[in-house]
Amino acid sequence: MDNSKIKRYTVTAALPYTNGPVHIGHLAGVYIPADIYARYLRSNKRDVKFICGSDENGVPITLKAKREGITPQEVVDKYHKIIGDSFKEFGVSFDIYHRTSSQTHHQTASDFFKTLYDKGIFTEEVTEQYYDPTAKQFLADRYITGTCPKCGNENAYGDQCENCGSTLNATDLIHPKSTLSGDQPILKETKNWFLPLDQYEERLRKYIESHKEWRPNVYGQCQSWLNAGLQPRAMTRDLDWGVRVPLRDAEGKVLYVWFDAPIGYISATKELCNYAKLDVWNPKAEEYYINNYESDKCGWEEYWKSDETKLVHFIGKDNIVFHCIIFPAMLMAHGDYTLADNVPANEFLNLEGQKISTSKNWAVWLNEYLRDFEGKQDVLRYVLTATAPETKDNDFTWKDFQARNNNELVAILGNFVNRVVVLTHKYFNGAVPTCMEITAVDQAVIDELAGYPEKISASIENYRFREALSEVMNVARLGNKYLAETEPWKLIKTDEDRVRTILHVALQIAANIQILIEPFLPFTAEKLMKMLQNGGHDWDDAGSVALLKRGHQIGEATLLFEKIEDAEIDFQIEKLNQSKSANAVNNATATPAKENINFDDFSAMDIRVATIVAAEKVEKTKKLLKLTVNTGIDERTVVSGIAEHYKPEEIIGKQVSMIVNLAPREIKGILSQGMILMAENSEGKLTFVAPVDRFTEGSVIR
Ligand code: 2FM
Ligand code: ZN
Repeated sequence: MDNSKIKRYTVTAALPYTNGPVHIGHLAGVYIPADIYARYLRSNKRDVKFICGSDENGVPITLKAKREGITPQEVVDKYHKIIGDSFKEFGVSFDIYHRTSSQTHHQTASDFFKTLYDKGIFTEEVTEQYYDPTAKQFLADRYITGTCPKCGNENAYGDQCENCGSTLNATDLIHPKSTLSGDQPILKETKNWFLPLDQYEERLRKYIESHKEWRPNVYGQCQSWLNAGLQPRAMTRDLDWGVRVPLRDAEGKVLYVWFDAPIGYISATKELCNYAKLDVWNPKAEEYYINNYESDKCGWEEYWKSDETKLVHFIGKDNIVFHCIIFPAMLMAHGDYTLADNVPANEFLNLEGQKISTSKNWAVWLNEYLRDFEGKQDVLRYVLTATAPETKDNDFTWKDFQARNNNELVAILGNFVNRVVVLTHKYFNGAVPTCMEITAVDQAVIDELAGYPEKISASIENYRFREALSEVMNVARLGNKYLAETEPWKLIKTDEDRVRTILHVALQIAANIQILIEPFLPFTAEKLMKMLQNGGHDWDDAGSVALLKRGHQIGEATLLFEKIEDAEIDFQIEKLNQSKSANAVNNATATPAKENINFDDFSAMDIRVATIVAAEKVEKTKKLLKLTVNTGIDERTVVSGIAEHYKPEEIIGKQVSMIVNLAPREIKGILSQGMILMAENSEGKLTFVAPVDRFTEGSVIR
């Protein structure tokens, strides 16, 4: 987009699903880069609206509600708050954090749909969808599991296999099963409204091809969708949670979550602009009152319908098709709307070499991070930007986190600022000294400093945030090099005037860092502002060496960053390892269930409390112990495969559970009369299943 034409910016960050808290992957992929961009624009006095909110519709929410035994509304209320708080705590500076369960959103999405409907855009199609006769409802793709036809994973979802990453149709699954009743679903006819994406293919191609500057991963994914040929896609779903389809013959149907979610950006902008709502929405009404808004009085339209507005969507790579193909097609179909100028989607962030997984608790949750590293928001912001998965998946490791904190934030940035402030207090009582005579060394530093703001701007404006941050760190490196070369602590005894100039210049470098670091590390910029007592500057002032006037009194030196010790990192790694073992155990419990048995089969088993009275190894075997047990009925011999887990002497006197009416079997020449019950974990470790309290032998277990 021609920069001279830009009057305002609409910056959106993907609306997170409100079915769980947010983790470092979300922050690195979407919210930190978006925040850097928005803060940078504000520092440049540009007119920007930074928009986000909770994505509260769709199946993930209803699934979570079912799992937790609460209502979908309770789910979204809970996580809207948790997620919103996390963003605030990490300094993500949205102008609004809205929600798609709001009245404004329901109105806006419903209205959008009706406009397309009235224009005759949709095709109506009756298709066969899976239906659960027991639960009496159509099944969204996520409510169906089965075997993936591509890789054989038995727990693939109706829309995707998480094992091999294939996109699936529910009807592709082998042995489909409803997650509601566990039964096999049946196919049943239902009508839905489809957006004929195929009809927008050429316009979309033109649009995408006019943006060759997009990141290769984004551009490439769009091209491959287009080359594969677009198909009509249903924009409504048979579901009871979401924005109701505003048509008479759409009972029990809601808008497809990917239809309403991006409209959430628009409704949030309206809310932000204090859009005058008319009290006409009634969820219980037969139909919605459509196109009944007051005309635009608040200015939201400028942010969505003007070719002087630059629209940028920050998303993760799994959202590319929705933001670059489907949403633009919706906007084209509607008319009037501006299309995104860029969609800087990030790849994924892995954690210690593994894919982040909510269900496996393989994640660093923001709320937990803050509990363990209180006040260290900027350390995480720094590390996640420095390792951002901008062009390929990247890995977060705790060791790297520690190294970047200790070797970069503490040793480079913190060290430079601290030295300058401490020396200024020590030699000049905290007053910015006068710049005396500028030497060639000073001039070289001043010239180098002057070039940074433009370099950093170019990186940010081209969405290269890692590069931009490393250039800001180079400013601190420049400062350290300058101090190391000039050694004011040595000169103070012989040439105080020279020290005045050096610290004057060094303080200007620190004040520049304050401006340049703000989009990346806002908490650090705030601390610097207090330390330097330096407010009121913005991006335009950066590069100057006249930010702090001579005689200006700076504040006390405080540490910007502190070293992170090995023990803190070991604790985090240990926490992850615990998730790993918990997962292993869960997987063991998750071994497929056996066929049901009837009650009679169960009660046919005579299970009793017994005590081991003697134990010895069975000769020439590795695994077997010969036990003598008191069953309360008699004393008998049982051969048990536990020799690799227990020594004979340590189990004498132990109480166990035993099936006493198992037909006797001969094992290695010994008649074994019964079976001792053992629990086995995923690593094959065995342990006795015993009564919690000591019980009389022969007590019945049932
Ligand atoms: O992937 C997700 O988390 C979606 N909730 C993102 C939605 S972005 C937008 F369209 F709202
Ligand atoms: Zn698969």
